[in-house]
Amino acid sequence: MTNRLDTAAATNLGLRAALVTGATSGIGWHLALQLADAGVRVVALGRNRHKLAELSRLKPCILALEADLADVNSLPGLAMRIGAAAPELNCVIHNAGIQHNVRVDDEGYDLRAIEEELDTNLLAPIALTRALLPALQSRERSWIVHVSSGLAYAPKRTSAVYSASKAALHLFGAGLRLQLRGTSVRVLEAVMPLVDTPMTLGRGRRKLAADEAAAALLAGLSLPGGVFHIGQARALPILRRVAPGLLARLMSAG
Ligand SMILES: NC(=O)c1ccc[n+]([C@@H]2O[C@H](COP(=O)([O-])OP(=O)(O)OC[C@H]3O[C@@H](n4cnc5c(N)ncnc54)[C@H](OP(=O)(O)O)[C@@H]3O)[C@@H](O)[C@H]2O)c1
Repeated sequence: MTNRLDTAAATNLGLRAALVTGATSGIGWHLALQLADAGVRVVALGRNRHKLAELSRLKPCILALEADLADVNSLPGLAMRIGAAAPELNCVIHNAGIQHNVRVDDEGYDLRAIEEELDTNLLAPIALTRALLPALQSRERSWIVHVSSGLAYAPKRTSAVYSASKAALHLFGAGLRLQLRGTSVRVLEAVMPLVDTPMTLGRGRRKLAADEAAAALLAGLSLPGGVFHIGQARALPILRRVAPGLLARLMSAG
């Protein structure tokens, strides 16, 4: 079991205020609660206003921000709202995501659904990072974290667009890391295994508990390097090297 982030560790890291997107469910829910428990000011973002209200009720220090990341025109204004809500913001965790389990030619998986998936998983993190970067660069230390997946490295048959969005986010993060080398901003990618959340309801076995996944992500803030793997995803780099065919088969089945 991963040690939970505590106040001493958060203070040592210099973690002041964090944005958690997709905080109303799954991994993001636990990220918000664990950060708040460690004394970090949290801006919790999501669409579900009941869940947002519950978060603020559980931890009054959590500031709830109702927003739809797929509404791309609202993103510049949203970045300003985030900055105003947390003037000391020095950690942005791009966790919100959606995954449609479909074939690309499925009826109903129309352009709107494809756009929603790409905008939420890819465009919104890029646009918010761009808008928040000047503030993040002015801090002594700051973090941008992408919540990633093994599907960034090998696609799942029924989630081609989701896999593409995660692969693109992986490369965006790698490029951003190059651009920000030597600055105070660290760009991290947390590669998740299968985690027990509403996203994976009814599929998979031996899933990691969402609170454990959140704890492992927060532990990763102090690791060296840019990409870190959590739980069973730790096998990915080895499989990519020694058995890429096996990896492709495992991932394609989801
Ligand atoms: N579960 C896994 O096995 C697994 C594995 C690898 C990677 N991941 C990644 O981990 C992250 C969290 O996933 P999860 O499993 O915790 O999923 P989840 O329980 O389904 O939660 C997804 C979160 O994203 C938010 N969200 C979705 N669309 C949004 C939008 N348009 N605007 C704002 N917020 C939006 C949802 O909030 P609202 O509904 O309130 O908007 C919800 O809080 C995702 O990036 C996912 O790709 C998960």
